[in-house]
Amino acid sequence: MTLFDVVRGFPSMHIGLAADHGGFELKQQLAAMLRQAGHQITDFGAHELHATDDYPDFVIPLARAVATGQVERGIAVCGSGVGASIAANKVPGVRAALIHDGFSAHQGVEDDNMNILCLGGRVIGPLLAEEFVKTFLAAQFTGAERHQRRLDKVAAVEKRDA
Ligand code: RB5
Repeated sequence: MTLFDVVRGFPSMHIGLAADHGGFELKQQLAAMLRQAGHQITDFGAHELHATDDYPDFVIPLARAVATGQVERGIAVCGSGVGASIAANKVPGVRAALIHDGFSAHQGVEDDNMNILCLGGRVIGPLLAEEFVKTFLAAQFTGAERHQRRLDKVAAVEKRDA
């Protein structure tokens, strides 16, 4: 955390964003909100609205960036959030989930070390999405033994089935 972060009262993060046409508008709104809040944003696209684009083309590069540590956390948006979460979870090291409630937005990080938040641009509005994003970014994995044990079991499957 930098001195600037201390003065502002929260740490800035490097956050990756991705969306297809179904999530494009919400991604643009979230990017503006996050930049305004002082976070560093890497936008993996789409950079323009194309009605026939495909969410894996944007979500997979984001997921790889999260898995390699290029960005700290990711936010992936498609129409429902389902395709984005399915695609993101194909990348080893990614723990993505479709989140449309406030409890899961923090508990998913605290217990499950979720590193990509998926949203449905055709399901929730921008203000609710902003709340979930803020909650997601403020949450930290507790590292509790029982949670780590469960994540280790998930990671073992990921390794074995690779
Ligand atoms: C695209 O029409 C839509 O299927 C996609 O954005 C997403 O909702 C998939 O899960």
